[in-house]
Formats: sequence, structure tokens, C-alpha cells
Amino acid sequence: MAGNSSAIRVAVDQSSIDFQFARDVVEGLSRRSKSLPCRYLYDARGSELFERITSLPEYYPTRTEAEIFRHNAVQLTAPIAGGDFFVEFGSGSSIKTELLLAQLPADVTYMPIDVSQTALDEAVERLRMRFPGLKVTPLIADFSDVSEWPLVLGRRRPTLFFPGSTIGNLHPAEASALLSRWRAALPQGARLIIGVDLRKGLDRLLPAYNDAQGVTAAFNLNLLVRINRELHANFDLGRFAHEAIYDPRYGRIEMHLISKARQTVTVCGRSFDFNLGEGIHTENSYKYNISDFQELARLAGWKTLSVLKDGNDDFSVHELETFVAPGRDEPAFL
Ligand SMILES: C[S@@+](CC[C@H](N)C(=O)[O-])C[C@H]1O[C@@H](n2cnc3c(N)ncnc32)[C@H](O)[C@@H]1O
Repeated sequence: MAGNSSAIRVAVDQSSIDFQFARDVVEGLSRRSKSLPCRYLYDARGSELFERITSLPEYYPTRTEAEIFRHNAVQLTAPIAGGDFFVEFGSGSSIKTELLLAQLPADVTYMPIDVSQTALDEAVERLRMRFPGLKVTPLIADFSDVSEWPLVLGRRRPTLFFPGSTIGNLHPAEASALLSRWRAALPQGARLIIGVDLRKGLDRLLPAYNDAQGVTAAFNLNLLVRINRELHANFDLGRFAHEAIYDPRYGRIEMHLISKARQTVTVCGRSFDFNLGEGIHTENSYKYNISDFQELARLAGWKTLSVLKDGNDDFSVHELETFVAPGRDEPAFL
């Protein structure tokens, strides 16, 4: 797959991924409370498992957000004109995106950006067949690194698309920093369409991250498979268990991998001790109230144009636009 990839490799070449991955894993496992960055969940197998999660009966976010796009696709895409850029961050399979792509005028450039090359390659192949008139220019990159954005994004007024509540994987302070960074790299009037999962009862939240078929468990445990394969580690998968809990202090679901025994694991030649019941924190998924998210976005330089929700108030889609707060200068374009 990698040999005939259609995606442009810009932000990260393979050697830097390996080095960065090794450094992040060793650093994360050396902490008193062990943790790993959640973007590493998405290797080829991880992306495949995530796709399976999106169609599980317990996993409400994907189908709810898709329903919002289905009902509002015309409104959301109306400001996009021929020649514009439509840029998606953390695009994965781009399946939900098709609902919006179907409404775009000819000659729009769709730029899916993701760290998962296999997910990008499969999505691009499918989209080029389904939408022959669309220009698809994929980019393998970390969406938080604006220095890797093509210059064209700063010169035009692109529409950015960030669905899937991927913003919820970040601590609110990190989410705010990310939105500020994006805002500073864009001209006034650029739009961001962003999916944000909403707070709700534990009877809905917990099963969404701990499904009956065990697909989410396999997704979480696959991180250890990846570390074993890429970093010469010896995690015994039978000695770790998936756990999803809700922390009401932060309004977030946490995923952990819990050690089922006292054990020592070797990664990159370094030993890491685990006590019985000790966990590795692998992912957060913050849930927001609409007004809290709007305030976070406003402080980061984004004003709300509209907020769309499903009938049960399970999920929200915010249409935001860059603005300059009074007394602040318009940031320099890229
Ligand atoms: C929760 S999934 C959402 C996928 C898809 N957008 C959806 O709504 O179903 C997160 C996606 O973001 C990608 N991703 C995670 N962290 C990333 C990063 N820092 N830079 C680029 N892509 C990232 C993952 O590979 C994955 O495809």
C-alpha cells in the first residue's frame, strides 16, 4: 500500500514517526501515571477497527453526526464556491464527508489530512471514483502543526472541517490552543465546521466506549500490538484489559489499558514495571455543553455562525468563522 500511495507525505516521514513514536512511548510509560498520546491508536489496523466502531449499535456519535450533515448539507456547503479549498482534519475514512462533498460545486479542492496513511489511501481511491469532478489532494500530516499547511490555505478563505468530535480527544486547554493556532494561520472570514459530542447520561456514554462485541477493547489493545511491532516491545496482550470510565470532574470518558498482573515489560530496550491494576491512559473524550464550547471557540478567535443538533441533543455541529477581537490585530497570513 505504502509503495503506490497517492497521499503527499509532508509533515512526517517514516523515520521521524519512528523516532517520535519511540520517544513519546518511552516518555509516556516513564510517568508516574502512565499515558500514551491517542493519535498512536491509528495505525492501519487501528483505523480499520475505528471504522468498525463507528457502525456499532452502542456508538451513537457517528450516525448522529451523519444525520445532522444529511439534514443540513445544503446550508453547510452553500458558502463554498468553485475554486475553493475544503480541508478536513483527521479525515479517516471520509465516509460522513461524502454527504457534504455531494453538494459541492465543480472545481472545489478537497484536502483530507490524517496521520493514518492507509485510511487516507483507501478514502482517496473511493472518493476519486465516486466524485470524478472533485480534486482530491490528501496530506499525511499532524493537524496541529500549521507550519506544514500548504501556503494556499492561508491565502484563500478555506472551509475547514473537523468532524467526529476529534476535538474532544484534547484537554480543553489544548483544544483552545489548537483553535487559536488555526485561527492565527487563516484570514478573517475562514469557516470551520466542527463536530462536538455533548454531555449525556452514563447509560449512553459508557457502552459507547465499551461495546458488547469488544471492538473498542480490540482498538485500545491494538496500541500494544503496534508498540510490540514497531518498538521491539514484549507486551503480553492477555495480561492487559481495556477499561472505559467517566470522570465527572472533567466531563470526559477515559480509556485505559489495565495490567492484570504485576509484570515488567521491555520497550526499546527499557524496562517498565506494572503493578496489578495499574493502567496506561490511552485516550480522553471530553463531552461539552454547547455554550461552554462556544465560549472556548470565541476565546480562540472563532465566532459562532450556527449550531446544529440532532433531535435528542446527543451531538452538535458548530459552524464557526474567524474574527478579530476588538483591540487585536489581524494575524499575519501564512
Ligand atoms: C475519532 S477519528 C475520526 C475520524 C473521522 N473524521 C470521523 O469523523 O469518523 C480521529 C481521526 O483523526 C486522525 N488523527 C488523530 N490525531 C491526529 C493528528 N494529530 N493529526 C492528524 N490526524 C489525526 C486519526 O487517524 C483518525 O482518522
